[in-house]
Amino acid sequence: MDKFLDYALKQAVKARQLMPAPSAFARPAHAEYVKKIATAAPVAAHPGKVIYDALCLNCHQPEGKGLPGIYPSLAASDWVNGDPARLIQITLHGLSGPIQVNGQPFAQAAPLPMPPMGLDDRQTADVLTWLRSSFGNDAPPITPADVAKVRAAHAARSSFWTAEELGAGR
Ligand code: HEC
Repeated sequence: MDKFLDYALKQAVKARQLMPAPSAFARPAHAEYVKKIATAAPVAAHPGKVIYDALCLNCHQPEGKGLPGIYPSLAASDWVNGDPARLIQITLHGLSGPIQVNGQPFAQAAPLPMPPMGLDDRQTADVLTWLRSSFGNDAPPITPADVAKVRAAHAARSSFWTAEELGAGR
């Protein structure tokens, strides 16, 4: 099943405490599936993963590997593991190429920037902290205070960053 539909179904079953009457379903497999959801113990995902799945996954893909020529990989990326301020900056304001990832030029078929994410300090910290310990990345957490500091330092910023401005090569 489509993963977004599956998510919506799980939320609906939980919220309404649905317990299926088998006769309500066209196929027994459907009744079994809803029963399984309704009785499953809740799994608490890291709040950063929830944000990644809702916001970043569309472009950077479920395993963070991106799509060649369109979206760069976040797996073991020097942008993700490197300077926290730079990572916060691109999440707040976006990034317009050309860029390099791990010393390799990331060639896009057509120029496509990363848009600003519109997250608050806590959400930005959560998603970046989760990202920095996922997909082969291994870097210390980022706090909401770190994000607030970067946000304040660039409060007037209203356009995408370029790699050159961030001192990240090009
Ligand atoms: C609409 C598509 C889109 C979404 C949504 C998006 N990104 Fe990106 N991201 C891009 C593109 C495109 C680039 C490369 C920009 C360029 O080369 O001009 C990029 C670059 C990056 C980079 C630097 C390059 C690298 O490979 O490490 C990081 C880090 C990153 N994104 C993190 C995130 C995070 C975290 C989120 C969610 C909060 C996110 N992105 C959501 C499209 C997206």
